[in-house]
Amino acid sequence: MTDSHSEDPLHIYPDAQSLCQACAEHICRRIAQGDQQPFHLALSGGSTPRSLYQRLATAPYRETLTGNPVHFWFGDERAVPPDHPDSNYRMARETLFEPLGIPAERIHPMRPLPEDMSGAASAYEQALEQCLDKNDRGLPRFDLVLLGLGPDGHTASLFPDTDALEEQHHWVTPVYVDKLASWRLSLSFPVLEAARERLFLVAGAGKSGVIRQLFTEHRPLPAGRLLPLPDTFWFLDQAAARELSS
Ligand code: 6PG
Repeated sequence: MTDSHSEDPLHIYPDAQSLCQACAEHICRRIAQGDQQPFHLALSGGSTPRSLYQRLATAPYRETLTGNPVHFWFGDERAVPPDHPDSNYRMARETLFEPLGIPAERIHPMRPLPEDMSGAASAYEQALEQCLDKNDRGLPRFDLVLLGLGPDGHTASLFPDTDALEEQHHWVTPVYVDKLASWRLSLSFPVLEAARERLFLVAGAGKSGVIRQLFTEHRPLPAGRLLPLPDTFWFLDQAAARELSS
């Protein structure tokens, strides 16, 4: 693996299209460096990554994703059925898994059950335990975790003012998000921090305020906890970066 410490953490692109292309190239470069070892990739949800996944399903990226043993995991999931319009799994299935014909054994969806969120969290932890290498603290190590950023500074489903922010024991945690009046499952900070690499994909003028709060004002927002970590990269379009000083 290339020593990514030497790489600049912040990358700004003129528009969403060039941002997606750069992100796709970065992910495929990392996968190709894996020398045909299983590559454990955690996908982010929401709307921003849709165009990235669609691009990854096209040439030349698709050959990297199908020609290497990439395992697709999720950073978080909404407590909805897998065919629900809000399901992160459904979005990835439609844009990535089906177009690429990814075999089921390489797809690891979270299965949140509103009636048993703790059980669903434990089930995902068991899958992580079985499939991922561990670091020296016994934490599962993703090769790359793709992350988004909410306007309130949440990432994955680690929302402000939730107990999930303080979860240090469990690898996967249920999160009740008051303002959404809904349950979610999320990887916890220890697992995000244990990953070999974190890659934030942030696009659009609607994120320029939270980017300023993180990078210029250093507000203590959830995503800010990952800012100081090495091997953490931020891929932004110009619209999201417009409030950053040069
Ligand atoms: C989710 C995501 C979440 C997302 C941000 C940004 O399940 O919603 O994992 O962390 O990345 O909310 O969402 P947008 O890309 O839709 O702005």
